[in-house]
Formats: sequence, C-alpha cells, structure tokens
Amino acid sequence: MDRAAPHALRKGPGTVSMINNKEGYGALTKLFHWLIVILFALQYIGANIMTRIEWEDTFAGLSQAFYYNWHKSLGLVALGIAVFRLANRYMGRLPDWAPTLTNGEQRFIHRSEQVLYFAMFFMPITGYLYVMSGGYGVMLFGIWQLDNPIGKWPEMEFVTKWMHIVCAWVLLAGILGHLGVVLRHQFIVKDGLIKRMLPGRG
Ligand code: HEM
Ligand code: HEM
Repeated sequence: MDRAAPHALRKGPGTVSMINNKEGYGALTKLFHWLIVILFALQYIGANIMTRIEWEDTFAGLSQAFYYNWHKSLGLVALGIAVFRLANRYMGRLPDWAPTLTNGEQRFIHRSEQVLYFAMFFMPITGYLYVMSGGYGVMLFGIWQLDNPIGKWPEMEFVTKWMHIVCAWVLLAGILGHLGVVLRHQFIVKDGLIKRMLPGRG
C-alpha cells in the first residue's frame, strides 16, 4: 500500500522535519498525536466521573459542574487541534510503512487511522450539538458562556446524545486495537515501533 501524498515534500535522511516525510513523522504530527492522547484520556476519565456523581456531590474536591465544564471545554480544544492535525496530515507525505508490519497490520492500521480521525471530529461535534440542542450550553473553562446557535430541540438532543455515548465506546475499542498493535511490536516483535511517534528521528 503506497503512502505517498500527491504533493510530496521531501527532506534528506536523518534530518528532523516539522512535517511528515518519507523517512518519518514530522514534529507537528508527534506533538498533535500526544496532545490528543492526553486530551482523550482526560475526556474518558472526566466523563466517567461526571456521569457517576450527583449534582451536589464532589469528587477529589471538585464539583460535578466543574467536571462538565472541563469536559465540554477540553473537548472543544481537542476539536481545534484535530483541525490543525488533519491539515498537517495533508502536508508532506506519510512515511513509508515500518518494514516489520505485516500486510494485515498495514490494512488494520490504515482503517483504524481513518476511524480515529473520524472520531476526533465526530466526538466533539456530537457533544457540542447535544449540549446546545438540550439547552445546557457551554461555560468555557467555567468562565465564558458560549452563545447557543441551536436552542432547545429535543429530537436533535436525543439523537446526538446517543451518538456521542455509543461512539465513545466504539472509539475506545478502536483506540485499544491501535494500542494493541503498538504493544505487540514493543513486547513481542521488539522492533521499537513506538519510536516512530516519539521525539527525534524514530
Ligand atoms: C474529544 C472529544 C470527546 C470525547 C472523547 C468525549 C467522551 C465522552 C465520554 C466517554 C462520555 C461518557 C459516555 C457515557 O455516558 O458512557 C461523554 C459524555 C458526555 N459528553 Fe463528551 N466527549 C468529547 C467531547 C465533548 C464535547 C465537546 C461536549 C460538549 C460541548 C461533550 C459533552 C458531553 C456530555 C454532556 C456528556 C454526558 C452525556 C450523558 O448525559 O450521559 N463531550 N463524553
Ligand atoms: C497510549 C496510546 C497510544 C499510543 C502508544 C500510540 C502510538 C502510536 C504510534 C507508535 C503510531 C505510529 C504508527 C506507525 O508506525 O505508523 C501512531 C500513529 C497514529 N495514532 Fe496513535 N497511539 C496512541 C493513541 C492514539 C489515540 C488516542 C489516537 C486518536 C484518537 C491516535 C491516533 C493515531 C493516528 C491517526 C496515527 C497515524 C499518524 C497520524 O496521522 O497522526 N493514537 N500511534
């Protein structure tokens, strides 16, 4: 499976590039990748806290409202990063496949990357549509109340809420599959695949 983008930008071997090239992922891809990993981890942890405690309860000294505000706010930050990440992916060209990946793994990685990119947009957009159509709104970082361009719309609220929740758990399976490939290469194949996504020239 050829990974070259039509508008390929190349750099010499051994150099660290801001964008992807034939030899490896660029610094921006790595930065966006790990920022999204951190934000998604916070989203899953925070969501499970906020949906399990009562309105008047606290967890680790923080109120349910705090968790909701930060879940919504960090989700929108993740959406912003996803926009830059997607644009960055279309610059340069994807690196060649790691030589240790089987054909089956290449196909799996290709499809799972599409699912992960889709989810990076679908999760925040459904979350946003849900809270706006439900009339709950977004208090960005507990400070700024965002305008609600939708207003109360119960059908939309119902559909987007369940899309958000179902996609969250389907996505988790995708992330675990993605992680599974990396862990298999780390501990069984022992080819250090993860270095391709770490700072420096992996
Ligand atoms: C990176 C993006 C996001 C991820 C990964 C994410 C993930 C999750 C997860 C795992 C849940 C718990 C699902 C369950 O109940 O089992 C959840 C719930 C929720 N999310 Fe998000 N979310 C994201 C973005 C957003 C955004 C941007 C908003 C709103 C602006 C939002 C609003 C909500 C709300 C209100 C709930 C509670 C749903 C309920 O009533 O049970 N989320 N989210
Ligand atoms: C601890 C969790 C994770 C680890 C250890 C990890 C590791 C990696 C590694 C090593 C690669 C490079 C694979 C290659 O050789 O081509 C990669 C690529 C990728 N990962 Fe992850 N990943 C994790 C979580 C995530 C999450 C949560 C997402 C998105 C929601 C994600 C999205 C992607 C995408 C889209 C690529 C392809 C490169 C790109 O275009 O950005 N990863 N990951």
